Amino acid sequence: MTPTLNLTINGTPQTIALDDPRATLLDLLRERLGLTGTKKGCDRGQCGACTVLVDGERVNACLSLALSQDGKHITTIEGLAEGEQLHPVQAAFIAHDGFQCGYCTPGQIMSAVGLIAEGEAGLDPERVREGMSGNICRCAAYAGITEAVLEATREMDTAAERKSA
Ligand code: FES
Ligand code: FES
Repeated sequence: MTPTLNLTINGTPQTIALDDPRATLLDLLRERLGLTGTKKGCDRGQCGACTVLVDGERVNACLSLALSQDGKHITTIEGLAEGEQLHPVQAAFIAHDGFQCGYCTPGQIMSAVGLIAEGEAGLDPERVREGMSGNICRCAAYAGITEAVLEATREMDTAAERKSA
């Protein structure tokens, strides 16, 4: 019997018949659903290129069985912007040159969104670097990435303060 999976992906509920119960979340996103913004780097949990949010938490999609995510909310890089309006983390990566070739960038951005939501790193560059250490950049754009995460944190803090005032 073909297992069926219910996922909400970037806000849209989907029911998916899974031909192969061993499929990873990464392969499901890229190969079945065409969401190729999520990248496959190492396919073994070492590079972070495949980072997505599952119920708001950072997950390496290459290490996760799609079936194990039944009922969950998945956010990929395609789901961050609101129309033409970039997410503050996306805008900050552009402003601070947080990339060169761009291959690691979707994973870096998703990881940064998760890190900011965790609220553990705040505006401490060392803690930001530590919090982002699961995301490898072969172009070594780390200085820009750290600056981008710090700026996005400031932006989002300010926006939250304005909202609650
Ligand atoms: S592709 Fe998943 S961690 Fe490298
Ligand atoms: S921008 Fe090239 S791997 Fe990070």
